[in-house]
Amino acid sequence: MAVGGKLHPLQQAWIDEQVPACGFCQNGQLLTAKALLDRTPNPTDAQIRQGMANTLCRCMTYYRIQAAIKRAATTMRADVGRDPRPVHRRAEREGGNGPGDTPQPGPGSDEVTV
Ligand code: FES
Repeated sequence: MAVGGKLHPLQQAWIDEQVPACGFCQNGQLLTAKALLDRTPNPTDAQIRQGMANTLCRCMTYYRIQAAIKRAATTMRADVGRDPRPVHRRAEREGGNGPGDTPQPGPGSDEVTV
């Protein structure tokens, strides 16, 4: 779920809400939560309970799972339209303002970049 070393909002929310207990169910919980948010980007508490109902947790982390899903949903809605690439990759493409960036030719330059 992570892209380019950046955690998916669900993974970060899982950490922020300290969801895992023993960890046994967590892969299934995360993938089920992702499928839920793909279908329903702004789920209600009832939709979360219904969407997660078949993914059992013997450690009873359901309240923390619900909080993490709501936190991730908020983050994902805020991120809509933002460039998903890490900041250093955006800087390279936009003219190299980041540390270690390679200078790029400016507008009107005859230099061709491959
Ligand atoms: S965290 Fe232990 S089974 Fe879910």
